Amino acid sequence: MDIFKWIERELKPKVCNSVEFFYDEMDSQSDYSLPIIYRPFDASKRSHWRDRGSLFDYLFSTEGEGKKLLDFGPGDGWPSLIVAPFVDEVVGVDGSPHRVEICTENAKHMGISNVKFIYVEPGTLLPFQDNSFDGVMAASSIEQTPDPKVTLQELYRVLRSGGHLRIGYEDLGRYRNGQEREAHLDKIDDHMCRLTLYDRHIDQEFARMYKIALSMSREEIIKFFSENGDSLSFDLITIPLLEKVCSTITETLLCSLTHPSGKTFVSWLKEVGFREVVPSHSGAWFAEQLFAQYSDEDRPRDIDAIDSILRPLVKIVVQMAAPISVNPMITAIK
Ligand SMILES: C[S@@+](CC[C@H](N)C(=O)[O-])C[C@H]1O[C@@H](n2cnc3c(N)ncnc32)[C@H](O)[C@@H]1O
Repeated sequence: MDIFKWIERELKPKVCNSVEFFYDEMDSQSDYSLPIIYRPFDASKRSHWRDRGSLFDYLFSTEGEGKKLLDFGPGDGWPSLIVAPFVDEVVGVDGSPHRVEICTENAKHMGISNVKFIYVEPGTLLPFQDNSFDGVMAASSIEQTPDPKVTLQELYRVLRSGGHLRIGYEDLGRYRNGQEREAHLDKIDDHMCRLTLYDRHIDQEFARMYKIALSMSREEIIKFFSENGDSLSFDLITIPLLEKVCSTITETLLCSLTHPSGKTFVSWLKEVGFREVVPSHSGAWFAEQLFAQYSDEDRPRDIDAIDSILRPLVKIVVQMAAPISVNPMITAIK
């Protein structure tokens, strides 16, 4: 029998949305790694250049400079908090009350006052009038909502006519070839762990995730599932072994998400009414390529110098149409 069918039949998981499954319980959903928000900018790091590339991507693709932007699903406050210094106002809406708290704290400790974060219950309409925003950013968040197409309709509604929506999305295609099914183990404390199993259906554009809470230590679980004490992989998790630890399982959750491919996003964006939909190159990707062009000695060392190089180039890059398979970034114009 398929392991996921067994889990559903025997463990009767509680069905929940992505906020209950992931986002509401994390203190940082980026593991405190975000440049500027959590760490000082470090010009020697490729990921920090990538972050500046993303900032100018969202700023220019939304034509948001000096304007009022919506950030849908900001997580730890990204990209709201890095974009904020360049715009008039940012409103971040998140379906997790805890994420809203964290974003608000981050804004406070960064001394940013032109951003506010608002909670919106998943599956409900956005608490804004039609045509409220000049631009909308959504970074890896639309596919986390209960109905991504309804989310796109809402983003269309609150965007003003002529406004730009920029979306970045998680393309399930990157998990092809062996990562469709995955296992992750997280320690809750010395006596509790959570095992998360991923069941990705790339071509059908959805993923199911199961989270099993076990009252066992991390070491006990690894020893139990893996004879030689190796780290855990999906292949090691079998029905007979799960049957043996059944009495230690305290809770099982199930979250199903639709993950539209780029092609589906493009057709949905057109269906909800956007007059122009353009998959384009990504500023983040471009900034990484630029980083790699410099030797360690020649690479600019301060953020202002890097910004002045990236700004005009990213402005052009994000307008360049790209094949949908190249970058998971799309601009849609109302
Ligand atoms: C993968 S995270 C992305 C966070 C951030 N934009 C980034 O790129 O680092 C997804 C975010 O979407 C939020 N989210 C999930 N469902 C939502 C919903 N129905 N409405 C608003 N936000 C939602 C989550 O709470 C989380 O903050």
